[in-house]
Amino acid sequence: MSDEQFYQESGPRDGTMQPLGEALGRLEKLDPAEVACKECGESYMAERYNWPVRVPREDYPQYTKIVYETRIVGGGLCPNCQQAKAEERRKLEEAARIAEFAGVRRKARLACGIEAKYQDQDFSTFKTDGLAEDIQRAYKRAWEYAEGFPIEEGGKGYQSLVLFSANSWGVGKTHLAGAIAHRVLDRWTGEPPSCPVRFISEPELLLRITATYNYSPEEKPYRECESDIINSLIAVPLLIIDDVGKRKAQDLRFVQRIHFSIIDGRYKRMRPVVLTANLDSEGLGRYLGGVNPSGAQDFHGADEATLDRLIEMCRGRFNQIEGKSYRRYPGTSRDKGRA
Ligand SMILES: Nc1ncnc2c1ncn2[C@@H]1O[C@H](COP(=O)(O)OP(=O)(O)OP(=O)(O)O)[C@@H](O)[C@H]1O
Ligand SMILES: [Mg+2]
Ligand SMILES: [Zn+2]
Repeated sequence: MSDEQFYQESGPRDGTMQPLGEALGRLEKLDPAEVACKECGESYMAERYNWPVRVPREDYPQYTKIVYETRIVGGGLCPNCQQAKAEERRKLEEAARIAEFAGVRRKARLACGIEAKYQDQDFSTFKTDGLAEDIQRAYKRAWEYAEGFPIEEGGKGYQSLVLFSANSWGVGKTHLAGAIAHRVLDRWTGEPPSCPVRFISEPELLLRITATYNYSPEEKPYRECESDIINSLIAVPLLIIDDVGKRKAQDLRFVQRIHFSIIDGRYKRMRPVVLTANLDSEGLGRYLGGVNPSGAQDFHGADEATLDRLIEMCRGRFNQIEGKSYRRYPGTSRDKGRA
């Protein structure tokens, strides 16, 4: 016997053995032939095959046999129509994926830390007409920042942004910081797979960290600890910390240590941060640590040079916004000049 494998089709024992390939059917390429496209009617050279099909046997209908029919590859469509169909299918699949992704994005928006009051406040609800030049500039800067944020690269290498007002409240800092988060989420289509933005106010951050100190030894293994919180804030592509220095810190040393861990962690990983503050740059330096305007020995130690890092991360530029409070004077000119 040769090497050819033989196969006995289960069925009537007529004693014949067939080569395996024949029993299963062999695809045979035929010469191309000119046919008319089913879609556009244009004639084209179609690739054809002798195609094996299983059909019931006439003598024993409960058993099958192989017959061959001529088939055209590509469903009888010319290459152009095939391409158009594939493109149409791809678009439909993409639209379905984006529609499905809208649900993920909605959840991320609620869970990323944007407070309820600012859930509906984005660039579209921020008025600039007749408002101070500072505010118009800050709006433009924030918009460009959000548009340019490299989401798919996880924010790597992108610059940071500080919006501050030294002498004003209610000028739209939190609104703009939230608008950046909203816009980045609008642009997010699934890469990276987890939410690319975290929005947190400084008071909330400090509260969450101090809460970890009060867990009982039994609770501790199941709760997040300080380093869990800090590491998650370092890892997110875009971190927004709102209201830095708004409240007088009871323990400035502690606040500085936390800010240093976060800012330094992000600095080393080349990830940006957006801060809003109610302090001027000198006040921010004193608050965060790292500058010493009086020239005296730095009371917190020169290693905590948070401001230094922040200045580099912002490419040397902070954005000041001063004006009347929008809370008190909505929609009026708030231009009272820079402090
Ligand atoms: N230009 C604007 N257009 C529309 N709404 C605005 C504008 N500026 C501020 N607001 C609204 O005014 C309120 C106060 O603004 P926001 O909280 O952003 O100010 P802030 O600068 O963060 O204030 P604070 O210094 O007290 O933290 C918010 O409800 C905000 O949506
Ligand atoms: Mg605010
Ligand atoms: Zn066609």
